[in-house]
Amino acid sequence: MISIIVAIGKNNLIGKGNDLPWHYPEDLKYFKEKTLNKTVLMGENTFYSIVNRLGKPLPNRRSIVATLTPDFKYPHVEVINDLIPFLKEEHREEIFIIGGKQIYKLALPYADRLYITHVNKDYDGDVFFPEIDFDNYSLISKKEVGELTFCIYQRVK
Ligand SMILES: NC(=O)c1ccc[n+]([C@@H]2O[C@H](COP(=O)([O-])OP(=O)(O)OC[C@H]3O[C@@H](n4cnc5c(N)ncnc54)[C@H](OP(=O)(O)O)[C@@H]3O)[C@@H](O)[C@H]2O)c1
Repeated sequence: MISIIVAIGKNNLIGKGNDLPWHYPEDLKYFKEKTLNKTVLMGENTFYSIVNRLGKPLPNRRSIVATLTPDFKYPHVEVINDLIPFLKEEHREEIFIIGGKQIYKLALPYADRLYITHVNKDYDGDVFFPEIDFDNYSLISKKEVGELTFCIYQRVK
């Protein structure tokens, strides 16, 4: 199963330059809870922003990096050079797509489940998530915590 996990602000905002536009420790905690001991797949830019922040890939997760750079190598990290065939394969385990913009756009048509943290506040930024057709999804879980609404959507068509 392919799942996308993302925090989305107003007008589909997801980033400011190479960073998030906001800082919500409760969202980072939620992200950790959902992805711990699972497989996370990310683009090269998102991978390096994690490594710059933590000094290493996300701990206690299987990390896969999507990159068009043919000689990309990093210890304990798997690499995919051609994302679309991977997304089309049947995956028995849940694969969490964790960003960024390019990889979300490629993965959205294949995503069975969307873990969206809606950020209900205005922020500046310049990186946006693609338009989601919510007719294709059913809301299966919703929890409001302050300025955030944690929602899970399951594909129905
Ligand atoms: N709000 C959130 O929850 C959230 C989460 C994560 C990231 N973000 C934001 O997203 C932004 C970063 O997004 P981004 O688009 O710059 O970076 P990205 O999606 O992390 O990485 C893009 C990389 O993916 C690779 N790629 C593209 N097409 C591919 C394909 N078909 N197969 C394999 N690899 C492929 C390319 O690698 P090459 O460079 O090698 O060509 C490209 O550099 C930042 O603003 C960040 O803050 C937001």
